[in-house]
Amino acid sequence: EEENPENLSERSPIVTIMGHVDHGKTTLLDAIRSTNVTASEAGGITQHIGAYQVEIKGKKITFLDTPGHAAFTTMRARGAQVTDITILVVAADDGVMPQTVEAINHAKAANVPIIVAVNKMDKENANPDRVKQELTEYGLVAEEWGGDTIFVPVSALKRDGLEDILEMILLVSEVQELKANTDGRPRGTVIEAELDKGRGPVATVLVQNGTLRVGDIVVAGTTYGKVRAMVNDRGRRIKEAGPAMPVEILGLSDVPSAGDLFVVYDDERKASKLVDKR
Ligand code: GTP
Ligand code: NA
Ligand code: MG
Repeated sequence: EEENPENLSERSPIVTIMGHVDHGKTTLLDAIRSTNVTASEAGGITQHIGAYQVEIKGKKITFLDTPGHAAFTTMRARGAQVTDITILVVAADDGVMPQTVEAINHAKAANVPIIVAVNKMDKENANPDRVKQELTEYGLVAEEWGGDTIFVPVSALKRDGLEDILEMILLVSEVQELKANTDGRPRGTVIEAELDKGRGPVATVLVQNGTLRVGDIVVAGTTYGKVRAMVNDRGRRIKEAGPAMPVEILGLSDVPSAGDLFVVYDDERKASKLVDKR
């Protein structure tokens, strides 16, 4: 396609959170999100969209708010790769559990680097060394133990260590040199979608290349439509969305599936023909 390497620019990392049941994934996501929200924006935040961006030191990080396993299995089954970094949450009082191991396997299969968040450090029986010890069996050896895995002690509940996590994400993503073409044909992945009573089919998409604009004709999985409106992760109407930006789009004729790829077409007739063939 019209991939001109000269048009490539830096893009923000896309991060998913994985880990065993009740180890604190949702609490951590919510804590990170709310620390980066100004009071005036708080109202918009209650509106849930399946991904959000935070900013630290002038750099953005995109978090996918979907269950990590679903993000990996559904999306990878469809050939989509949306994650750059996985945060593996392990409760310091519980240690490595079956879904911890599953998460490691998913990330390894997708070749996605892992940062370990040792959570619940506020608990009396927190034992971060045990977590480190147990994870060595799965090839995750802490830097301080001579390996190359970053471990960050956190308390999602008390909101301790959140900045450290964000800084480590930036560190890892700098090495990755993530790039996207802001001028290329807009395409990306559907993160989640639903039929909204008032608004019709609503899809949260992650733009991965190009700039998606209101008025664009989009094919997503087996549906298509003209983008009627876009809403960002703060509940604001926006007119365009660039790489690594999560956005809700309205105007599709039907509800696509999570993991569906979307792409913009110049011509509505071509788009509808393409969809008919699928
Ligand atoms: P699932 O989505 O069900 O897999 O769970 P989860 O990993 O999203 O865990 P969740 O965030 O729902 O937290 C589970 C429980 O642990 C809740 O009662 C949280 O309040 C608690 N919890 C989460 N983080 C911390 C923490 O840092 N310290 C303490 N003490 N409790 C925490
Ligand atoms: Na839970
Ligand atoms: Mg949860």
